[in-house]
Amino acid sequence: MKEGSNNRFIGTLSQKELIKLYEKHVNAPKVRTFKSFGLAVIPGERKGIKFKTLAGPRPNEPQMELFNCRSSGGVFNLGHSNPAIVQLLKDALDGGLDLGDHMLLSEWRALLGKKLAELMPPGITKTTFGVSGGEAIDTAIKFSRAHTKREGCISAVGGYHGHTGFALATGNPEFKDIFLWNPPGFIQVPFGDIGAMKKAISEKIACVILETIPATGGVIIAPEGYFSQVRDLCDKHGVMMIIDEVQAGLGRTGKFWAIYGGLYETEKVIPDFMVLGKGMSSGVYPISTCSYKPFIEKTVFKQDAFIHISTTGGSDLGCVVACEMLDIQSDPKFLNHVKEMGKLFGSGLFEIAEMNSSLIKEVRGRGLMWGVEFYKETFGQLAMLSIIKEGVLQNYCGNKKDTLIIMPPLIVNDEDIKEILERIAKGIHNLKKLK
Ligand SMILES: Cc1ncc(COP(=O)(O)O)c(C=O)c1O
Repeated sequence: MKEGSNNRFIGTLSQKELIKLYEKHVNAPKVRTFKSFGLAVIPGERKGIKFKTLAGPRPNEPQMELFNCRSSGGVFNLGHSNPAIVQLLKDALDGGLDLGDHMLLSEWRALLGKKLAELMPPGITKTTFGVSGGEAIDTAIKFSRAHTKREGCISAVGGYHGHTGFALATGNPEFKDIFLWNPPGFIQVPFGDIGAMKKAISEKIACVILETIPATGGVIIAPEGYFSQVRDLCDKHGVMMIIDEVQAGLGRTGKFWAIYGGLYETEKVIPDFMVLGKGMSSGVYPISTCSYKPFIEKTVFKQDAFIHISTTGGSDLGCVVACEMLDIQSDPKFLNHVKEMGKLFGSGLFEIAEMNSSLIKEVRGRGLMWGVEFYKETFGQLAMLSIIKEGVLQNYCGNKKDTLIIMPPLIVNDEDIKEILERIAKGIHNLKKLK
């Protein structure tokens, strides 16, 4: 423990020691990348919608306090260390709960399965559990292949579903070629282009997989009717429709599901699979889910009830946390709050875009999920760093580097929004000197 500190878990190392250990034992190229940014954003103390960095960006500079508008893609939807969730987890541990045994039945998996079935778009009533989003995506693609007896999978150019097996196969070539991973039948089409989907889909395709709002792909808003038309095409060709709401689900758009009224109020599409991760954990206990219609269960588990297992997926403790989170985030008052805060945040971003119209090409989003696109690709990274310096953590999109993705925790209030907008405006204003 560092001298003068009474926290056994945060600040045990100086920033210098930490970086040295990271370089030596974890990932030296990652350290080099962060050094090239000239900022070491290492989370130290964290609470609510903010965290403090472990130390100042440079020696003798004070720690930074950042609004976490990355939210780690929705992991921190309820902020850091949400008191209700933390207390519940402590109680569950004190009450003797643990991971449970994945081979046996579990009361908490049963309860979470029931809760999800009640909240899902109608007819999605079964759930298989995992630990990470990628694992749950792999499950959905595996089950689609088993059900259809086909190999093909259509995903969106720039979409992102994780770095595990089948999830990786859906992604852009730059992430999978180095691993010699190009399974047959995996193809990509431009997102939102129904003509391209029509051309690609056939009786060889097992599934279409899409994020409702591609996050890594640039917070793209599909034209109204796109998802309904994809649904029709899937029905026509006997193809499973997998919707990834790892980032856009759980109330992020101001509706509980983006695919079911969150993207367009009157467009309510029911996929065959709905995949969740990140925010299911409330930032304290990892869990992911792959929910699907019951006809899928009949073929996948017909010959072997143990055809798919995950030792730590759907742990009892994770299910307890997820059940509580679902109760909080599905409350109409909570969703209305997100909607109101989203309106405030969106209109503030539009104003910023208007004031910086020589730099910003477009602002787009729903609820508390927003993208800010710059004319020049380099400005994605420059804007990210400049806004971080003003105290707001966000990032440019990995597959669309000209666009910032900004996702405040869903518990922000109007005062927070005002302050966040002021800081974003200042960060972007400072870029004008560079132009
Ligand atoms: C939309 C989406 N799906 C799936 C994943 C994969 O989740 P994980 O990193 O937990 O495997 C991510 C991760 O960023 C994501 O953004």
